[in-house]
Amino acid sequence: MTVTWSIEDAEKGGYPHYMLKEIMEQPRVLYETYTGLMSSRELEKAAEILASADHIFVTGAGTSYHAGLVFAYFMARIARRPVITFISSEYLAYRSLDHSNSALVAISQSGETIDTLQAVRSFKSSGGRVVAVSNVVGSTIPRESDTTVYTRAGPEIGVAATKTFLTQVLALTSIALALAVHTGSLTKAEYTEAMRELRNASHAASSGIDRSIRLVELLASSLRSKNNIYVLGRGLGVPLAYEAALKIKEVSYIHAEAYPAGESKHGPIALVEEEFPVIFVGVPPEDELLEKLQSNVMEMKARGASTIVIGTSSYRELEGVDFYIDVGNYSEILAPYAVVPPFQLLAYKLAVMLNRDPDKPRNLAKTVTVE
Ligand code: G6P
Repeated sequence: MTVTWSIEDAEKGGYPHYMLKEIMEQPRVLYETYTGLMSSRELEKAAEILASADHIFVTGAGTSYHAGLVFAYFMARIARRPVITFISSEYLAYRSLDHSNSALVAISQSGETIDTLQAVRSFKSSGGRVVAVSNVVGSTIPRESDTTVYTRAGPEIGVAATKTFLTQVLALTSIALALAVHTGSLTKAEYTEAMRELRNASHAASSGIDRSIRLVELLASSLRSKNNIYVLGRGLGVPLAYEAALKIKEVSYIHAEAYPAGESKHGPIALVEEEFPVIFVGVPPEDELLEKLQSNVMEMKARGASTIVIGTSSYRELEGVDFYIDVGNYSEILAPYAVVPPFQLLAYKLAVMLNRDPDKPRNLAKTVTVE
């Protein structure tokens, strides 16, 4: 008998790479995150700590930091509480503050990232309380925090975070919703309704995957020869653009840079010439953002850029777009689950087309435990 597959192949569940397997797993793991949150008291405990704090900080590294930016956005929009965001290796900037009336939300998939752990320790030593958001039960950051909200994404083997990002976003959006009841910006009934809506995160992710899987192949063929890509967004689209650009550069080694679209004319546009690819992230609220994004598309088009939109169906109205991936129409709290998978698939396809190993990008580690 000849064995033609390895244990590793079997663990990839028939997919050629862990990264692809983990992208495709998102609808299922999001459902698990959701049911886990609904059947535990984690959200209430986190909301109690945040509600009693005068100041709320959020930190993380890499992809976890981007999830923190989504959290800050929803905290302002839904819970009406401002949040101070910082990249965890920058914790020293806040070390001389008295944190006795503050709370820190520390996001770490592994629960072991040294920079985030140091931010937690520094914060605790000056009297702050810490809510961890992690995927690994019993890891160091949850152990040293006052309470933990777990993301329940299951093990992630690919170095580039995919399923753990969207499960973090789901956990953090749920925390913002739970806090909104404390701040009075949502009634208990509105909270229950919003949580019911979040149950569809899983469907939104399926739609994002199904609607993009073929188009992403075409897009990747046209982008594979590029040296630079811009990813621009507004509002909620900004952290999603940061995460998209990070994914593209991590696994394909193409230089991808994200900016708030409004900022592009303050420098980045200087690089734009014929055929420079600019991807726009289109998210709700469309009535506020569509017109503004339209002028950014036109600014880029006028310089000869190739304009691409990955966004909700309403963005079909945009003029001057060369390539469009319509992920369906979703509310603001559901849009991330539909919009992010096409970007992950794009990064993955680019890596494969360029013969890079998407599971083990050069120079990167899954968990960074040394400074
Ligand atoms: C490394 C990984 C990233 C991850 C970051 C933070 O850089 O390559 O994918 O986002 O660490 O990891 P954490 O486990 O703290 O979320």
